Amino acid sequence: MTTAIAAHAAVTKSAFGTTPDGTAVDLYTLKSDAVEARIMTYGARIVSINTADRDGKMGDVVLGYSALDGYLGDATTYFGAVVGRYGNRIANGSFKIDGQEYHVPVNNNGQSLHGGIVGFDKLVWQAHPIAGGVEMTLVSKDGDQGYPGTLTAHVRYSLHHNALRIDYSVSTDKTTVVNLTNHTYFNLAGGGTVLGHEMTLLSDHYTPVNKVLIPTGELPSVEGTPFDFRKATLIGARIEQDNDQLKIAGGYDHNWVLRGANGEVKTAARVYEPASGRVLTVTTTEPGVQFYSGNFLDGTKFGKAGESHEKRSGFCLETQHYPDSPNEPSFPTTLLKPGETRHSMTTFTFSTHAK
Ligand code: BGC
Repeated sequence: MTTAIAAHAAVTKSAFGTTPDGTAVDLYTLKSDAVEARIMTYGARIVSINTADRDGKMGDVVLGYSALDGYLGDATTYFGAVVGRYGNRIANGSFKIDGQEYHVPVNNNGQSLHGGIVGFDKLVWQAHPIAGGVEMTLVSKDGDQGYPGTLTAHVRYSLHHNALRIDYSVSTDKTTVVNLTNHTYFNLAGGGTVLGHEMTLLSDHYTPVNKVLIPTGELPSVEGTPFDFRKATLIGARIEQDNDQLKIAGGYDHNWVLRGANGEVKTAARVYEPASGRVLTVTTTEPGVQFYSGNFLDGTKFGKAGESHEKRSGFCLETQHYPDSPNEPSFPTTLLKPGETRHSMTTFTFSTHAK
């Protein structure tokens, strides 16, 4: 099936295997004049993004596996996935809504990470083609992983020339907490570590963490710290510095506070890879971005072309509400009430820069 709509990317659908319970997984290929992106229904995951380098040579700039089995056998990296209900961490897997305490699975150092044991990354989403893309839908039942309320999530991926846009919308029938993001690992060189990528983060403050990576609640300035990426700086330039925050996380694995209001579109990050000339620009309506430098990749898993997923061979820019917001009243709220629909938007735009 091919749906070609003027001014939009062409969209094709193919089979991508079945899960152990026999559910079919589909793969949607979005192709514009500049980019080809493949997205599957298992975890609503980005499987590949092919973009040109400065010489026009196409290459895949995201980490992943060649077949569904790789994804099914990997519970911890979240390659390409939409993570939810709550992307990132909730302290001790507990929070209160209207005085009632809820418990969600603790799957990371006594904390809840990325929605629990069977988060949205491990479920097969319903999908249908839209103009230039695909809409994925998931209905998570009241009590799923301990979260209150039946949550309906729509995630629309659409390709517009060199920009992949992700639109999220969520609604619930009972007050709940939600924080959806996309967990793609990028490597603009198409291989090796990402330490030689130049990172710019349009952010003046970040959320430092305690020993189990839960924010302390403070929002210090990045000034004079290895967290200052206001000017383009190599990811590897300061990552081994003697800094408590870098040591706790084994590198960068923190939330940066974005400029501008929650809900307003702003540029979050710009990443330049000097050898290929590729540039990734990230815009979002979210108030924060988790820059994770792939510190926990350990080289034991092998990618699409048999390459090992080495430590720091990919970085994530997870546009989001701040981690542990349900327990931190001073952070922008992640509460969602019945009758509301919350929208958010993130774009990944690919370009190149001359030498
Ligand atoms: C977290 C990391 C975690 C990784 C899982 C990131 O979003 O911030 O701490 O290890 O996801 O692969």
